[in-house]
Amino acid sequence: MQRFLRAVQQSWADGTFVRLLVTRPADATESAPARRIVGRLIELRGRPHLSLTAREGTQDRTWNLALGEALEWLAGQLQVHRCGALLGTVHRDWQWQPTRNGPRLVTHRPAQTEIPPRVHDQPKASWLGPAARDWLHALGLVDARGRPRPSMISKYHQIERYMEIVSHQARACGWLRTELPSDARSSVVSPRPAEPPTTPLQIADLGCGKGYLTFALWHLLHRVARRPVRVLGIERRSELVQSAQRTAKDLGAEGLEFVCGEIFDCPLPNLDMLVALHACNTATDAALLRGIECQARLILVAPCCHQQVRPQLRAPPLWAPLLRHGLLAERFAEWITDGLRVLFLEWAGYEVKAIEFVSSEHTPKNLLLAAVRRHPPFTDPTRRDGILALKREFGIRHHALDPLLVPEQLAPGAHPRP
Ligand SMILES: C[S@@+](CC[C@H](N)C(=O)[O-])C[C@H]1O[C@@H](n2cnc3c(N)ncnc32)[C@H](O)[C@@H]1O
Repeated sequence: MQRFLRAVQQSWADGTFVRLLVTRPADATESAPARRIVGRLIELRGRPHLSLTAREGTQDRTWNLALGEALEWLAGQLQVHRCGALLGTVHRDWQWQPTRNGPRLVTHRPAQTEIPPRVHDQPKASWLGPAARDWLHALGLVDARGRPRPSMISKYHQIERYMEIVSHQARACGWLRTELPSDARSSVVSPRPAEPPTTPLQIADLGCGKGYLTFALWHLLHRVARRPVRVLGIERRSELVQSAQRTAKDLGAEGLEFVCGEIFDCPLPNLDMLVALHACNTATDAALLRGIECQARLILVAPCCHQQVRPQLRAPPLWAPLLRHGLLAERFAEWITDGLRVLFLEWAGYEVKAIEFVSSEHTPKNLLLAAVRRHPPFTDPTRRDGILALKREFGIRHHALDPLLVPEQLAPGAHPRP
């Protein structure tokens, strides 16, 4: 046992330690330690510690010991509780086995030859740190202690994912300079440093519903990126607008407004960013047309239901054996509707990425199109020809984005309702 303990100490001293595993004997009493305790070396307040994690029932319990205490604790486990133990180092593994015929110490080739990181566990990085608790709580997503409400957990994860996606896109547009900042986890939003005056980013979230994702967007750009912003949530249901507007006012959410209106014709300024998440059927196309018309630099849409293309779909001979199955035809109609949206956006000068929004275990409506304006619009006729050819091939006479095919007729605010 002394040899085993010395090997542990030595591996701590020369930095070759990988892990420690302590297992209780099969005939252990209830008072014995947990069945399996894993130890790893971490740095805490500048000093090495052994971090121990015991699985108790379905829960993990973790505690940290300075190395002197850790050695005493380990000796107690081996002597008093007759536990087995495995020491992993980068040179060799040491196994301490208490058997009926007396304990044995054996060595093996190392299972791992790389030194693991010594960092203390950080909470999972998230943009929804305590600084976001006020609006998350006001919207009923978390309780007063900041824990996500069980009934809202999937919306909470959707918001987390959305913020991750928006943060990447905002960085690509030069609106966000930081990685996940430390104060996103802090409970205090640090005061805004003096900034050179810049014009506010103009953002519209069309069909914003209760405004969960509108608040998230505002939080990211106003509070975290510390940009002057004007985020406008547009929604046709007045009761949702009133409630979101009241919450924004109560929280003093500078630059966040909610307005009752229609996606098709609500007044919009020239936009930096347009968002439309889960707007039904062709409301997504109306939002795309508005984004293009307002020359939004960044457009994010997550399509919802797709009804326009399915009744028109005519299978070319090669596809007919596949598309005679109703479900396949339906999925294909969704797919080609969104595919055409991508092509239309490219024709309008955007570079488009199709991203998985939420995991497909939660909903099949999990596509998000992220489009960044990169080129002058409507200049490459091969793109328009590609759209026309695809529509012809599948018998699609009308797509809600067709007005983009005749851009000369697109006057701001005067495009036909899809
Ligand atoms: C499924 S909800 C999504 C809400 C929010 N975007 C989200 O993802 O959490 C769709 C919202 O869009 C609104 N909406 C649908 N069509 C609209 C239109 N033409 N004009 C304004 N709002 C519309 C609906 O009232 C509804 O609140």
